[in-house]
Amino acid sequence: MSLGSHFLDELRSRITLSEVIGRRVKVTRAGREFKACCPFHHEKTPSFTINDDKQFYHCFGCGAHGDVIKFVMEHDNLGFMDAIEMLAAEAGMQVPKQTPQERAKAREDRDLYELMDDACQYFEECLLKPLHADALNYLLGRGISRQTIKDFRIGFAPDDPQAMRKMLLEKGYSDAEMIKAAVLRPAKDGGKDPYSFFRDRVIFPVPDRRGRIVAFGGRILPEHMRPPQRSDFTPPKYMNSTETPLFHKGRMLYGEPTARRAAAEGRALILVEGYMDVIACVQAGIAGALAPMGTAVTEEQIITMWKMIPDFNKVPILCFDGDNAGRKAAGRVCERILPLLEPGKSVRFAFMPDGEDPDSLIKSSGVRGFKEVVSAAVSLFDFLWSSYTQGRSFDTPDEKASIKKQLENEIARISHRDVQEMYRAALRDRISRVFYPPRQYGREQYSAGRKGRRGGYDVTLRPPKPVRKGKDSLFSKVVLAGLINHPFIFDSVEEVISGVTFKALRLEQLRQSVCIHLGEGEDVSRESLVLQLENEGYSQEIRDICNESVYVHASFCSPSANEENILSKWLEYWNDYSTAGLEEEIHDGWKRAYMEASEQEEEKLRTLMSVKAGEG
Ligand code: CTP
Ligand code: MN
Repeated sequence: MSLGSHFLDELRSRITLSEVIGRRVKVTRAGREFKACCPFHHEKTPSFTINDDKQFYHCFGCGAHGDVIKFVMEHDNLGFMDAIEMLAAEAGMQVPKQTPQERAKAREDRDLYELMDDACQYFEECLLKPLHADALNYLLGRGISRQTIKDFRIGFAPDDPQAMRKMLLEKGYSDAEMIKAAVLRPAKDGGKDPYSFFRDRVIFPVPDRRGRIVAFGGRILPEHMRPPQRSDFTPPKYMNSTETPLFHKGRMLYGEPTARRAAAEGRALILVEGYMDVIACVQAGIAGALAPMGTAVTEEQIITMWKMIPDFNKVPILCFDGDNAGRKAAGRVCERILPLLEPGKSVRFAFMPDGEDPDSLIKSSGVRGFKEVVSAAVSLFDFLWSSYTQGRSFDTPDEKASIKKQLENEIARISHRDVQEMYRAALRDRISRVFYPPRQYGREQYSAGRKGRRGGYDVTLRPPKPVRKGKDSLFSKVVLAGLINHPFIFDSVEEVISGVTFKALRLEQLRQSVCIHLGEGEDVSRESLVLQLENEGYSQEIRDICNESVYVHASFCSPSANEENILSKWLEYWNDYSTAGLEEEIHDGWKRAYMEASEQEEEKLRTLMSVKAGEG
């Protein structure tokens, strides 16, 4: 659409730039100009200036520069026409439409938007009436603050089926319009008047990306607050507006305006399941939360999220329940996303702990708990891999071939050529490492282990039989527990831990995996590390290592140890129990023992080890 330059000039002149910016960031007057901390880069002292006369902003820190339209596009992460429409609405101007039909449709839509806003305001007012105190108390009781109620414009629809209709008729709207906006249902057979769609429900208004209300979600109050009138009918917990000219639920994402601004600030987009999850997240400061409208996420919604992220790498995180149903749901979403993948566009999957949703998790474990779960999100490829390998054995060539084929079939559904090729390469790589791990007792493992961390990668999902059981592995366990519980020490201990070989085979494999993950990832958290390791089949080992029976020997390896001392204590422990010479001897000795399978040699080493670990 072409807009005359006259229209744009008129728009700019009717709008005060500093006011538009002032609604989004804190601005202060400085002489004839205004100053602010630049919203486009991080800074503590303001170098962002706004000049209303010249109608432009300029940042001396990062060089951001432009007019009001550019500001809204960049800050709110909107396209040109959306920014124009939004500014025009603020300025009370009508964006010129090409054809009479377009003009008529725009007029009609505008009336519907106004109707929706009036309805929304009505619900908001109802929530605050003393008569509906129980609804307000319900929300406050769930930990929603009054400010959040205001921000999300949460309301209440009273029981009276005519109340809102009366109010909107007085404002000049017709029944037909109200039915079109889906706030009224047509009169039932026999009844004479249309009646409220939402009755006796808490109302969550659904804003579109520009913040205009286009639909409502209504939640029933819990039974103990409203005894059900009829025992043969259980009303649904949530109801959503039906489709209207303004509302297409497969396209809409609840929480979009806030999330869009968060994405523009470089924050992660996190797709959760429902209204309460979005609200709890945003209230807790996780502004990138959004939710589909009561259905599984659609292609359109995924694409919308990608568009919202200004970065080249667009990877929203999709949250699912941690149970089987949740993994199934994630699998279905995965199916839908594969054909859409493009370079720089993907998703990650985060699985909630059993029985929790983001809202309840934030309540029980705080923002930190939720963020830990989110940061352990797995990539699309890892999710695919684990959904076809988890819990399955692949001892026989047939099983291996079957798994390979199934994964290849999935990957074949990726339409983008390069992405598909990368997935194929990743699959080949994963298969060779998992199906054909370096020979356990042969020379390769040891030489690879010495060369570097990448060498001995082994993600065998089914633990092979441990070589020997017993408490002789305490040293390895303490060292590993310290590292797993406090991954931040890795950079400082990498050299020593990468240069040894543990004698217990499973612990040795675990050591290699830990080194790979910590060496490859940056700022890997304990939770994501543990999750990765569990996915690789080390759950049992982690249970054995990360528990009090190990911590009692060296308190620094416990997760609750004081961070300041961990590194020095770890190194102290290492030095006490692994003197260089002894280590070398043991290392070489085991290599010899394994390769020659000499029991004599093994016996000798066992004695050496126990001396070293002080466990004699
Ligand atoms: N939903 C819906 N219709 C239903 C049930 C659920 O549209 N009958 C949608 C709503 O968007 C809801 C989401 O699915 O927010 C998740 O539903 P559910 O897990 O049942 O509820 P919660 O979001 O956990 O809601 P609450 O915490 O209020 O119980
Ligand atoms: Mn919930």
